[in-house]
Amino acid sequence: MPTNDERLQRLDDLRAESKLGGGVARIDRQHAMGKLTARERLDLLLDPDSFVELDAFVAPRQNSFASDAERYLGDGVVTGHGLIHGRLVFVFSQDFTVFGGSLSEAYAEKICKVMDLAMKVGAPIIGLNDSGGARIQEGVVSLGGYADIFLRNVLASGVVPQISVVLGPCAGGAVYSPAMTDFTIMVEGTSYMFVTGPNVVKAVTHEVVDSEALGGARVHTTRSGVAHLAAHDEGEALDAARQLLARLPQNNLETAPLSSADDPASRMDAALDSIIPDDANRPYDMHDVISRIVDTGSFLEVQPGWAANIIVGYARFDGRSVGIVAQQPAVLAGALDIDASMKAARFVRTCDCFNVPLLTLVDVPGFLPGVGQEHGGIIKHGAKLLYAYCEATVPKVTVITRKAYGGAYDVMSSKHIRGDINFAWPSAEIAVMGAEGAVNIIHKDELAAAEDPAAERRRLVAAYETEFANPYIAAARGYVDDVIRPSETRPRVINAFAMLETKRDTNPRKKHGNIPL
Ligand code: HXC
Repeated sequence: MPTNDERLQRLDDLRAESKLGGGVARIDRQHAMGKLTARERLDLLLDPDSFVELDAFVAPRQNSFASDAERYLGDGVVTGHGLIHGRLVFVFSQDFTVFGGSLSEAYAEKICKVMDLAMKVGAPIIGLNDSGGARIQEGVVSLGGYADIFLRNVLASGVVPQISVVLGPCAGGAVYSPAMTDFTIMVEGTSYMFVTGPNVVKAVTHEVVDSEALGGARVHTTRSGVAHLAAHDEGEALDAARQLLARLPQNNLETAPLSSADDPASRMDAALDSIIPDDANRPYDMHDVISRIVDTGSFLEVQPGWAANIIVGYARFDGRSVGIVAQQPAVLAGALDIDASMKAARFVRTCDCFNVPLLTLVDVPGFLPGVGQEHGGIIKHGAKLLYAYCEATVPKVTVITRKAYGGAYDVMSSKHIRGDINFAWPSAEIAVMGAEGAVNIIHKDELAAAEDPAAERRRLVAAYETEFANPYIAAARGYVDDVIRPSETRPRVINAFAMLETKRDTNPRKKHGNIPL
């Protein structure tokens, strides 16, 4: 029989072996590729000394391909729980040094175990992805393991926040786990995601492309919209996950934590009174409006590089976490197109399922016209945003800064679709369409008969602008609750959210709605 000392020594030895993953040579290779190891990443992600590991001694199942020497303890993924800003999170970190981080049966079971625990206790799940996909030696068992994870991703969706950080390869069906989580963060130059890699693409479509150009961080944060944030390095990516979680509750039954605000709730900003250009067709940067009204420096933009005609992200108002959806008049005049509709719809739903109130800043000339947009399905994609706003029951405050035209007026959290408090600035133009378009249609005959059509057009446009391009017709109907000075936007928004703190609203009981997809 071994002595107690020998037993303790064996425990220490096995733990040390587990910590080494695929061994020193492969750790060195990982570093040489500019990547951190699975454990180094957890050190950066979690509060110091808070990580508690589970299943360190799980080993690959025996099979005819795996030699005893390859029965790595931990089997290619480090799992457990820890703290972020003092709050519990569950984590899995794929270890590329063991079979290229590829997913085996035991590995999938480890991930499922922490996902199940996260659901039981109501805490977020963060997955650090760096994997060659299904472990080839395990065949269909590995595919089954992926499906077990996908199912849990879906069951956890809207219950606990799920964040994926992609820090290496993520290919084949494996991409569908990050795709079903709330946020995906990538690192420029070292991470990539694709369903079929460059070789298969070349064989099937004859397109020649490398991994970075096919599915790198830049592609997915500017072209496809698959990922939400691109970081310069792994530390920045992991910090982004921490930042996101600080703005979210632990689960769908809680609200996001308050943070102490140094910025007075009563703070006005006189510069806002002149931020809208006198010429209604001149752009301005909505980021300037956002940064002037939120708690100083608190805005965290999500998907900044994709569909930049709409801005989404989290900010704080008097310490309270709020999701912001805002048109960006400096890009495509702030028009709603397919990508902007999808981006905002997803964000609205993410906020709503995690009880994060919504502030909508509206300056929208309408939906973007064009054959490409119509054939691409702007009808169904625009409907997603309309659906998301209608369905959302969190406190919704809206500020119309300038244009709110046509269907886009209805869509952008109008009163009619359960906007709770809707403000307009004096520069607001709330009407069926802009003056030029309206005059062309309703005064077609006068313009055709006029001696000087250009002068007649100018007169009619001016008359239309005076009559319709203002907030007071909507205010007279109660469609906006108040017309406010831009400078007082911050205190008014904070006051509205404070008033709405105890808001309760529900949707009819149903299995689930049928959002247009
Ligand atoms: C088992 C794997 C592996 C895999 C890599 N390795 N991928 N082992 N199953 N899927 C091992 C390698 O044998 C090697 O072992 C180590 O991991 C590192 O791999 P390298 O090729 O040396 O690294 P690198 O050059 O950086 O290339 C990384 C890679 C490449 C691009 C990921 O390994 C690769 O293409 N792997 C196959 C990817 C793939 O086709 N997977 C299946 C996709 S389909 P040693 O012992 O030398 O360290 C899929 C379906 C999911 O995943 C389905 C979900 C529904």
